[in-house]
Amino acid sequence: MSTAIKNIGIIGAGQMGCGIAHVSSIAGYKIQIYDLAQDRIEAALATINGTLARQVGAGKLTEEERKAALSRISGSTDVNDLASMDLVVEAATEDEAIKRKIFATVCPVLRPEAILATNTSSLSITRLASATDRPERFMGIHFMNPVPVMKLVELVRGIATEEKTFNAAKEYVTTLEKTFTVAEDFPAFIVNRILLPMINEAIYTLYEGVGSVEAIDTAMKLGANHPMGPLQLADFIGLDTCLSIMQVLHDGLADSKYRPCPLLVKYVEAGWLGRKSGRGFYDYR
Ligand code: CAA
Repeated sequence: MSTAIKNIGIIGAGQMGCGIAHVSSIAGYKIQIYDLAQDRIEAALATINGTLARQVGAGKLTEEERKAALSRISGSTDVNDLASMDLVVEAATEDEAIKRKIFATVCPVLRPEAILATNTSSLSITRLASATDRPERFMGIHFMNPVPVMKLVELVRGIATEEKTFNAAKEYVTTLEKTFTVAEDFPAFIVNRILLPMINEAIYTLYEGVGSVEAIDTAMKLGANHPMGPLQLADFIGLDTCLSIMQVLHDGLADSKYRPCPLLVKYVEAGWLGRKSGRGFYDYR
């Protein structure tokens, strides 16, 4: 466990929040999940328990380790429960207005020395930091999905991030047995700057009729050795998140090569958001 961090708050009980809680509790941290709705917290605890149980089944954890990890995770809808945290990781929807609102609610509750991190996959860390009361103790800690499986974490400093904050984050992700890369504060950092244009291009390939969904995904799985085809991966990430990252790239880099594919826009407008909504490029119902 880290020397500076023992108690971790996680804002947002979605797919990323669950994964971050999961890997952090296994590493021995005490976790407090905060979300607006109690049913989302209960669903998150059930998801984490299910994944821990799967790991016991696969011989990666013992039953005692599963129970101990689960006992370290609590959840609540009361923001005051974040008051004693050393580190709080915001993993809410990829929407700047929502994140700003969250920071306005959470910052007054936090200890002055607590570090606030965001799991944003694309937004400016410097700009988000300016919406907090602690730009020196604010930075990006960007996990990949599914968090328990993916080995990488991107660390991103804002212009005001102090070295002490950055070192604490480095130590924290190292204790999770993740490898970190450092990315500068540019739109979508490294992974999504490269991955999302590839996914967007796959959607253009479908839109222009070059290949079917199955043909495109098979081509990239077998032709480029990707574990998932790009359209399946887009469904997995969430088409709303994919669109929002493409919009950040398009706006932030002002280059037409990042123009979101109209088919992606249409799917999101239809509420076809991928796996989480039951329909995307594939049907999950
Ligand atoms: N949580 C925990 N563990 C999971 C999991 C999840 N959601 N999904 C799969 N796993 C585990 C399985 O339990 C299994 O573990 P064992 O080896 O111990 O059995 C292992 O992962 C492999 O799973 P499966 O055999 O079920 O399936 P698979 O071999 O097809 O792998 C996958 C699934 C790991 C998701 C793989 O398809 C993959 O790596 N896909 C690409 C994922 C990727 O690119 N992620 C990055 C997305 S971009 C991002 O996250 C950045 C962003 O900001 C948008």
